[in-house]
Amino acid sequence: MCGIVGYIGDKSPTEVIMSGLHRLEYRGYDSAGVAVVNNGGLQCIKSLGKLKIMDQKLAEQPLDGKLGIGHTRWATHGVPSEVNSHPHFDMQKEIAVVHNGIIENYQELRDQLTAEGVTFRSQTDTETIAHLVRKYYQGDLFAAVKRALQDVTGAYAIGVISKDNPDLIVAARHGSPLIVGLGDDEAYIASDVPAIMKYTRKVLYIDNGQVCEIRRDGYKIEDVHGNPVQLEVKTVDWDDAAAEKEGYPHFMLKEIHQQPDVIRNTLRGRVDEGSEEVKLPDMNISVEELKACQKIVIVACGTAWHAGMVGKYLIEKFAKVPVELDLASEYRYRDPIVPEHTIMIPVSQSGETADTLEAIRIAKRLGAKVASIVNVVGSSVARESHGVVYQQAGPEIGVASTKAYTSQCTAFALFTIWMAEARGVMSKAQAKEMIAHLRAIPDKLQWVIDHKQHIIDLAALPKYRDAQSALYLGRNYNFPSALEGALKLKEISYIHAEGYAAGEMKHGPIALVTDELPVVCVAVEGDTYDKMVSNIQEIRARRGIVLSVATEGDEGIKQHSEDVIYVPSCHEPFSPIVVAVPLQLFAYYVAANRGCDVDQPRNLAKSVTVE
Ligand code: F6R
Repeated sequence: MCGIVGYIGDKSPTEVIMSGLHRLEYRGYDSAGVAVVNNGGLQCIKSLGKLKIMDQKLAEQPLDGKLGIGHTRWATHGVPSEVNSHPHFDMQKEIAVVHNGIIENYQELRDQLTAEGVTFRSQTDTETIAHLVRKYYQGDLFAAVKRALQDVTGAYAIGVISKDNPDLIVAARHGSPLIVGLGDDEAYIASDVPAIMKYTRKVLYIDNGQVCEIRRDGYKIEDVHGNPVQLEVKTVDWDDAAAEKEGYPHFMLKEIHQQPDVIRNTLRGRVDEGSEEVKLPDMNISVEELKACQKIVIVACGTAWHAGMVGKYLIEKFAKVPVELDLASEYRYRDPIVPEHTIMIPVSQSGETADTLEAIRIAKRLGAKVASIVNVVGSSVARESHGVVYQQAGPEIGVASTKAYTSQCTAFALFTIWMAEARGVMSKAQAKEMIAHLRAIPDKLQWVIDHKQHIIDLAALPKYRDAQSALYLGRNYNFPSALEGALKLKEISYIHAEGYAAGEMKHGPIALVTDELPVVCVAVEGDTYDKMVSNIQEIRARRGIVLSVATEGDEGIKQHSEDVIYVPSCHEPFSPIVVAVPLQLFAYYVAANRGCDVDQPRNLAKSVTVE
């Protein structure tokens, strides 16, 4: 939620900042702003709406300078408007601040500052930081920011510049992501690596409570009390093309097409060809801990939670350990019971989801071992966990998660085999067979992509494209597929869609079935196939429009369905990974046909760093 970028060096700061903000637009896109230090003053341009409006403004009124900061916003305090967009300033307009996060005591600070004679321009929490920095500024911006942050509670990643310091950016982090990029005689700050990948691969991951003084030829990091901090410079190995659309109309479509390679990457190094065992050393869990484990708790939000449900089905079936699956936003507000020998597996693409992070902290306090499934390397979830499986999916920029989901399911499959073998409930032969099934998945995903024309044709039909509402049904391993398919459709096409366990139909939702209701039924081969076919018949009997997702070669399903999308035959426990792709493609093409902004759906942001 919200993206920040800053630059100091010889390049045009607005060019670098706008290029970075475009890469961060997935974090928020209701307004934007840039400020630069120029000719002994601060100059700023703001705009309401997406970044392209900001691009136009900057083309008409270029801003020049040697350093600057910029922001793309997802509103929390104060409606989206120019006045509420960042950067925010002190009263004299000599100090500028961009901020991602929420200042929790902002009302108290605002009242206090107002009593001291400060006039606020906006309704934002961020503006308090600008006034606080001014209050403590005595010629040393670094010192003033450190002091100001001692008064602040809440979450922040900030970039601060001032008129008096044409060679300095001060940045700080607590709870919201922040990196510093180091170049030759230049430096960057950003919320996320893709923003600066085009310019540098040398990165410092700033940690909570750290404040950085950044100049073009060096930097200093301290905590808010002035204690020095040493950070290792990390090299990022993501390739820059990964953050571009590469000819696809949307990132989402590109990311759907990347999935065969993504799954190969998730498996890479963890299962060798012909192998009978899985290697997940970074999870930092010993075989003794796997054996002693009494309970697994999976926490996540949204799509990652659906992947967690796939994980629960797999782990309970094969590793025979009870799994509690929780929405992170619920886990944190109930009194969870964490018995001895509990392993928590948080799942998060961004690694910055506020609720997931809080769930981790609670579980750690209660004694759980925490090993997460995360995509973004060095993210907060990864760093706060005892161990991690990196998904190796590359940057996911489309707001609707696609490749992250299938790679999370794949990571769960790996973990399951590893744990089941360690606990002696899966033989080497069975493990080898499971691994072979996993390794076959990328080709199956490619098959679905190669046969997408049929999905494109279906998504153009008015009965689907213009539907008001849709149901998605699945059973067992594919109940989460139904939830995920429905989420994809609703978030990008704005068609109301619900996912249900097919067995629940008769307990209420069947009342919704009419001849105008598309019902997407996941009926691939497997243990519950016959039950699914019965459910499909019940829907057909009520004239619902059945669109089945079935196994290639299943001709019989056609007589019960209005339309069928086929997927290749696959090992049932891993079928959610394969089934996800046609459901993603269907949602994508329906949304594109409806003219929706697929990569940036209304009201959403990719990384939910506030509660
Ligand atoms: C939906 C989607 C979201 C995320 C959720 C968790 O397409 O992307 O539901 O899955 O916000 O985000 P992460 O995985 O970053 O914790």
